Formats: sequence, C-alpha cells, structure tokens
Amino acid sequence: MKTRVAVIGAGFMGKTHATSYLKGCLEAEIAFVVDSNLSRAESLAASLKPAARGLADIQTVLDDPSVDVIDICLPTGFHHELCLRALQAGKNVLCEKPIANSLAEADEMVAAGNASGKCFMVAHVLRFWPEYVEAARMVNEGGIGKLRRISCQRLSTPPAWSAGNWLLDSRLSGGAVRDLAIHDFDIINQLAGMPVKVSAAGNPMDFSACMTLRNDVTATVEASYSMPKGFPFRMAFMIVGETGSIEFDGSGGSLSIVKKGVRETVAVSGSRTFNQNESAEERDGYFYEIAYFLDCVRSGKRPELGRSQDARDALAIAIGIEKALGEGLA
Ligand SMILES: NC(=O)c1ccc[n+]([C@@H]2O[C@H](COP(=O)([O-])OP(=O)(O)OC[C@H]3O[C@@H](n4cnc5c(N)ncnc54)[C@H](O)[C@@H]3O)[C@@H](O)[C@H]2O)c1
Repeated sequence: MKTRVAVIGAGFMGKTHATSYLKGCLEAEIAFVVDSNLSRAESLAASLKPAARGLADIQTVLDDPSVDVIDICLPTGFHHELCLRALQAGKNVLCEKPIANSLAEADEMVAAGNASGKCFMVAHVLRFWPEYVEAARMVNEGGIGKLRRISCQRLSTPPAWSAGNWLLDSRLSGGAVRDLAIHDFDIINQLAGMPVKVSAAGNPMDFSACMTLRNDVTATVEASYSMPKGFPFRMAFMIVGETGSIEFDGSGGSLSIVKKGVRETVAVSGSRTFNQNESAEERDGYFYEIAYFLDCVRSGKRPELGRSQDARDALAIAIGIEKALGEGLA
C-alpha cells in the first residue's frame, strides 16, 4: 500500500518535496497539499500526477486517519507549532530546515519526536546530497588522514521567490546564517562535531565565519543572500586532512581529490547541478532524502540521518554566529 502524504506549504520546497515523493519507485501518494493560500494549494495539487486535493485547512488533514505523513514546508516560524500538532495527531513528520527559530522550540520538538514513537526527521538535505555523502564517506574511512580544516561556501542572489518575501526579512528567516548556511553547519557538525569557539564578520544576509572545533580542526563558512544579480548559485567545499584533500566546486557530478601527492577527479553519480528553475525529475539529494524518510516510516526505524537533535545542534551553531555578528535572534 502506498504511503499517504500531506505536503503543507505549496511554495518552493512544497513543490520540490511533492514531486520527489511521486518519483515512480517510492510508492508514495500525495493525498493533500495544504496552504493558507488556497489557490496555491489547489494549483500545486492539480499539477501533480496523480493530482492531489488542495486545502487551506490543516486540521482536516491532521484528523484524517488515512494520512501517514505530514511534510512541513512552511516558513520557519510555523515549524514548531505544526510539528507538535502533527506528532500529537500520531503522524510521521518530515520538517524542512531550520528545525525552528529558537533552541527552546527545537528542544520541545526533539522531545516530542522522541516521545511520539513516530518517525520525525528534519530535512537537512546535504546529508543525502551525493557529493557531500561521498566526501563524508572518504573522511570517515580515513581517506585524507586526520581532519584539519573544512571550508564551505553557499552564495545566492536574494531569494525573491518566497511568499510575501518572508525569506528576505532576516528577522523571519534568519537570513543567510540561519536559512542558508545552516546546511553547512550541519555538515561541519557531522564531520567534526560541534564548534567550541566561533567568530564572524558581516551581517545576517552576507557573512564570513570562523570556527574552532575539537582536535585542532578549524572551519570557515561564507554565505550570502546578497550576491549581485546574475551571480549563479554556488555551493562549494574544501575538506583538508593531514594526507589529502577533497574539493567540490559546486558544478556537480565530481570531486577533486588529492591523495598520496596525486590530484584526480572522481565522478559522483546521482547528482545534478542546483538550479531553482530546474524540474526536480532527476534523482538528487531531495529524492534520496525522501526515499530514506519513507524507508524509516515503513520500517519503524529511527532516522540516523536528519536526526532532530542534529538539526537542533545546527541551529545552535547558527545562533552562536548570530551572536558573534551582534545579531542574536533567540
Ligand atoms: N532544503 C532546502 O534546500 C530548502 C530550500 C529552500 C527553502 N527551504 C526551507 O523550506 C521551508 C519553506 O520555504 P519555501 O522556500 O518553500 O517558502 P515559500 O515562501 O516558497 O513557501 C511557503 C508556503 O507556505 C505558505 N504558508 C505560509 N504560512 C502558512 C501557514 N501558516 N499555513 C499554511 N501555509 C502557509 C505560503 O503561502 C507559501 O505557499 C523553509 O523552512 C525554508 O527554510 C529549504
């Protein structure tokens, strides 16, 4: 039997998630698309194959026992309340990142997820993004020796697509620190643990940060939602160990590796370049993320990727950097 999903939020991520569930082999169906803007909900619902039902009322969906999954693709300020309501209603929950806007809210969500016996996962998609997955595998297998430094870049023009432009308001979205670089904070935590010291320069929409981690590892993150018009979205990283390095220049499909004094390009399958206008038909990080989530839902196992505690920790790094910028929001 197909897993029945309600996607809440019919914006950029709602569309990305909905189309990912419907890729043939995943055995899921979108029962409902819900959005406070009914015409957005109906329009996304009608565009799906097979079409879903568009609604403006979330409670109808929470009360429907045939719905297995609530997938939260709402602006961040709404994650906490809906996540608690959905878990309370006995639903499995996939929630977009950032988990919430404050650590107090995040802690409540982690606790509710743990107590629920349901699958609660936060959509930190880089844990499923082929180039990041391959790099983490190499690091964990000791392929570049003891880790020394990680540098990450995530650079974007202003996110002009969001409903009512909530993403452009750093008080609502957290800007480039909380909304964008949180992806990189999660990866740094995955590879090297939580920072013990952070410093930062810039503002919430455009910043550079330095982190000291345990075991003499350092990390830098540059992120911007203020790149000039025409600048192509760029996500990139360099991971340096004592005996080698791994570089991803953002163009997709390959990594540049230095190992034992030799530089080579390694192809990474299952990847594509990131482009907001591209259709989400191919297998990409979102596909693998949703495939993994559905597997956890069906098998009853707790997610080890996209753990709510890790999402909470990524938010804690973001809040530390906001404080270093003098912009503490929580
Ligand atoms: N993982 C990623 O790569 C990625 C990329 C972009 C956004 N996101 C995250 O996804 C979430 C959604 O972002 P987006 O870009 O899709 O935003 P968006 O503005 O494009 O879409 C949000 C939708 O939610 C609807 N909405 C707003 N408040 C609502 C409410 N109270 N009840 C019902 N519907 C409501 C809006 O009408 C809109 O259609 C955010 O948390 C964002 O950080 C993740």
